[in-house]
Amino acid sequence: MEKRSLEELDIRSWDETFDAAVQNKMTEALEGGKILYFPSLSFSLSPQELLLLDPEKMSPKSKNISFDLRSNGLQGMQCTQEEEEVMRAMIKRFAISSRKLLDALIPHYQSSVIQAKTSFRPVEIFGRKSSYRKDDTRLHVDSFPSNPVKGQRIMRVFTNINPNGQPRVWRAGEPFKDVVEKIAPRVSNPIPGVNHLLKLLKITKSLRTPYDHYMLQIHDEMKRDMNYQQTVPQEEIQFPPGSSWIVFTDLVSHAAMSGQHVLEQTFYLPAKGQKHPEYSPLATLERYFNRQLI
Ligand code: SIN
Ligand code: FE
Repeated sequence: MEKRSLEELDIRSWDETFDAAVQNKMTEALEGGKILYFPSLSFSLSPQELLLLDPEKMSPKSKNISFDLRSNGLQGMQCTQEEEEVMRAMIKRFAISSRKLLDALIPHYQSSVIQAKTSFRPVEIFGRKSSYRKDDTRLHVDSFPSNPVKGQRIMRVFTNINPNGQPRVWRAGEPFKDVVEKIAPRVSNPIPGVNHLLKLLKITKSLRTPYDHYMLQIHDEMKRDMNYQQTVPQEEIQFPPGSSWIVFTDLVSHAAMSGQHVLEQTFYLPAKGQKHPEYSPLATLERYFNRQLI
């Protein structure tokens, strides 16, 4: 599979070590907007864990099951205590494995990367109903309405654990600077004081910066515009079960079209912690708007 969005690496273990040439190549590719793709990196499950690949184990209100390595907390399940412990152990093992891989592959991030939530996503994406803003089958860059990142990068590690041979199908869109050139001229500027109101009303967990405002506007406008969705240069990528990938989802325009049962680890990284802060969405937007945004 020759795909312009992918940088492929053939590894088979989450405990791999890498030489400097590979580390450099992968760091450049990731920061340059590629998806690091590991076609043979699978995450093995025990027979007990396999029994939990079932959306019925989820509480009806949840979109996925989430785990926080910092508190050991698990959210979004509706099942027996025993099942909950099996699920916790599975997600925790993935959290630790993905951190190990990241530290070995991109040691540059080790001192400033923040490990955020880990999720298990057992719901089939195809045919899922949602408002256009929440519809991840439309191309977008990630931005969180209630959780301002203040310029920090959003990086995610995924592994497809589907037991039925079903791939996770994504689309990857145009480079971030092209997204900005097309979409940013149409977005509104932040209205002074509104960010304080949003925080007061607990709509946001902390103060939304101008950076968060523009990223959210770009996210929404990309998803709203069906003509953009259909006509923008894009390619389809199929991630088969037993494969894994790492991507800056705030930089790479992506859409998840179909698939079921993926594990995902989110990391935050201060833009200053990258090898090339000038490639960050923050730097690109600050150049475009010609002002400081955090
Ligand atoms: C997304 O970030 O848009 C969803 C990715 C996925 O669950 O495959
Ligand atoms: Fe996304």
